[in-house]
Parts: sequence; structure tokens; C-alpha cells
Amino acid sequence: MPHILVLNGPNLGRLGVREPDVYGALTLVDLDNSCQRWATDRATVEVRQTDNEAEMIGWLHEAVDRQADVVLNPAAFTHYSYAIRDAAAMVTKGGLRLIEVHISNPYAREEFRHLSVVGPVATGTIAGFGFNSYRLAISAILDS
Ligand code: DQA
Repeated sequence: MPHILVLNGPNLGRLGVREPDVYGALTLVDLDNSCQRWATDRATVEVRQTDNEAEMIGWLHEAVDRQADVVLNPAAFTHYSYAIRDAAAMVTKGGLRLIEVHISNPYAREEFRHLSVVGPVATGTIAGFGFNSYRLAISAILDS
């Protein structure tokens, strides 16, 4: 059974409370439940969140070591973290899939969100569909 790591960056532990007009009213626990449902019996899924860049990098190394595909919402790290980008590149250059996801559409927001330093090393990017961005990413991994 394939294993998918669904990794979430800073402030996404505050889903449900944080800017509900942008990110919706559902929580990280709701996201976890939905991801389990979307994977059905085709993959095991682990949903994690950290505010810590070093911890996120460690999880990306773990994905390589475990040969797990990744759904990554790098949150604000998206826009400036070359360290996350380099770790993400190890995943895709290692032959695994890494789908960058965003709940909102960063290109429709402030200008600093228009740059993703992770996107160029990702397998693909899905943004702007709320929690459904994760559903689409999981099915992209399962169906391709
Ligand atoms: C986000 C978009 C980022 O710009 C922002 O910093 C986040 C969340 C999203 O899921 O829409 O924290 O990645």
C-alpha cells in the first residue's frame, strides 16, 4: 500500500480560527479526516503540521527514506525558503511525487505571494480550491 505524507507549514495549525474568509471554517483535524476519506483503501495517509522549518525539512528527508509521495502546503515558506525548496527537490529528484498545494490562490492575493520558490521543483501545483486542493493532489498521486 503506498504511503502519502501530507505536510503543512506554519500557521496551518490555526485553520478554522485563522482568517476564515480566506481559509474557511474547517480545522486541521477536519483536513486530516477528509484526507483519510479521500485516500480510501488505496493509500495510507499521514497529515502533519509544523511551524518549524527544520522539522519540515526533516519530514521531507523522511519521505525520501521511506519512499513516500508528498502533498506539501509550505504555507509562508513557499515564498522564501530555499531550504524547503532544496529538501523538496530531493523528493522529486529521488523519483517521488511532490504536489505543492494551497488552500487559497496565492496569485490572486498580495504580490509577495505570487512567487513560489518550491513550485519549480514540485511535480505540480494545485491552488485555490480550498481543502479540495488536497483531494485533487491525492488523486493526482493515486491516478498517475
Ligand atoms: C497558503 C498560502 C500562503 O501564501 C500562506 O502564507 C499560507 C497558506 C494557502 O494554503 O493558501 O499560510 O499556503
